[in-house]
Amino acid sequence: MNLSELAKIKVNLFGEKCGLRPFEAKHLKNPLYLGWLRDPEVVKNLNLPHYLETHVSFNQIAAYCHSIWNSPDDIFYALHLASDDTFIGTVKAGHINWYAGTADLGILIGSRTMWGKGIASEALSLLAFHLFEKAKLRRLTAGVMDTNPAMIRVFEKLGFQREGTFRQQDRLGDAYIDHIHLGCLKDEFLKIQTR
Ligand SMILES: CC(C)(COP(=O)(O)OP(=O)(O)OC[C@H]1O[C@@H](n2cnc3c(N)ncnc32)[C@H](O)[C@@H]1OP(=O)(O)O)[C@@H](O)C(=O)NCCC(=O)NCCS
Repeated sequence: MNLSELAKIKVNLFGEKCGLRPFEAKHLKNPLYLGWLRDPEVVKNLNLPHYLETHVSFNQIAAYCHSIWNSPDDIFYALHLASDDTFIGTVKAGHINWYAGTADLGILIGSRTMWGKGIASEALSLLAFHLFEKAKLRRLTAGVMDTNPAMIRVFEKLGFQREGTFRQQDRLGDAYIDHIHLGCLKDEFLKIQTR
């Protein structure tokens, strides 16, 4: 898939609580974004220990965003509230394998007051439906630190199954944490949507 074909798939997605819009330069430049990536409570379960050791710089984040914008195998969204369009986080479908029909999902709600309101559940459901139905993918995956039960719960609610535990794969401070690998086939996701 080339970048112009990918652009046809990178469309806005709208739900009742939130919307996903392609992540743009205005999101990168929004000081909220860098602030979230410097908030230990937000980043502690991202398995990016260097973000906890020192404040990540704007240039590091900009380089990351540019690499995604130039990649035909990644779709990066800004997450907005449906009610007033506030920018509250990001959602990503990464490492897309167009041949095998797979992608890895990730989400970050940076605005902590927005946690626990069902937003991640809706955002990932919107994205999964889009990837299965419009992008014709057939399997989605995710990797979650075992210290993040809310994230595991969200994926399991969407139909993801635990496919493996990489024992003590991750490190958080002095602790070694299991890494939970989850996967979901299209039919498993659709079966839950129609319940
Ligand atoms: C993890 C995260 C995405 C969850 O988003 P959210 O919008 O709060 O999630 P939701 O409200 O849709 O759902 C959370 C679910 O987890 C449950 N939950 C919350 N804390 C829990 C806990 N300690 N143990 C078990 N379940 C828990 C909630 O009850 C809810 O399930 P329910 O709908 O059955 O009640 C959000 O906290 C976040 O962005 N954190 C920082 C970044 C991050 O960790 N990203 C994931 C990296 S893999």
